[in-house]
Amino acid sequence: MRHLEHRKRRFDSVRTAVLLLALAGFLGISIFSFDTVQAGETEEWALILANKQTPIPKDYEAELTFCDSAHEVDERIAKPLSQMIAAAGKDGVILEVCSAHRSYERQVELFRNKIDGLMRSGLSYYEAYKTASYSVTVPGTSEHQLGLALDIVTPGYTDLDAGFGETEAGKWLAENSADHGFILRYPLGKEHITGIIYEPWHFRYVGVKAAKEITKRGITLEEYLEDIIQ
Ligand code: DAL
Ligand code: ZN
Repeated sequence: MRHLEHRKRRFDSVRTAVLLLALAGFLGISIFSFDTVQAGETEEWALILANKQTPIPKDYEAELTFCDSAHEVDERIAKPLSQMIAAAGKDGVILEVCSAHRSYERQVELFRNKIDGLMRSGLSYYEAYKTASYSVTVPGTSEHQLGLALDIVTPGYTDLDAGFGETEAGKWLAENSADHGFILRYPLGKEHITGIIYEPWHFRYVGVKAAKEITKRGITLEEYLEDIIQ
């Protein structure tokens, strides 16, 4: 029970952090100290939180651009993404984007398909909904809808499962993505905070400063936002 209360307090704090960030942005105020953060390092837009407790605002519209022949991302992350893919290439690692921006409607389709599959294997609708939401976010809360998240694979391993984390590409991303502003968004052992299973293929742009700190400290975006607001 105390654990649940702690989690509720944690999510309340995160929600407050997001509201403050949104308000500060609306008022044109930077809540970051320029004594410690150089201008240009902080990309507040990149810190928007989307999770089960924090749906994406209904009027949120990403400005999209193609990052390859088939996938679109928020135009602000196209350059860091191509730089990251090029850096991996120099190290002999091939990274391929297999999912980037997804519309709300596409997320509805994926979520329904997941539920249908689980129900076919014998789960009730309620059980299927709950289980599905650990790996496919409830429509309206997916970072893919923001255009700031990517699912990345490599030619020798295209399955989206825990094994990707053991591949050269998975290891390279875990070690180097922060240099380009990306984080492994759903780490192993943090499922109780993110509400999502370990996804070593899902990378989220948060900006270089935040990505380096999140990765170095082994925390989640939720924990990072909670800390910077305190
Ligand atoms: N697979 C991630 C959690 C999503 O659906 O957004
Ligand atoms: Zn993903």
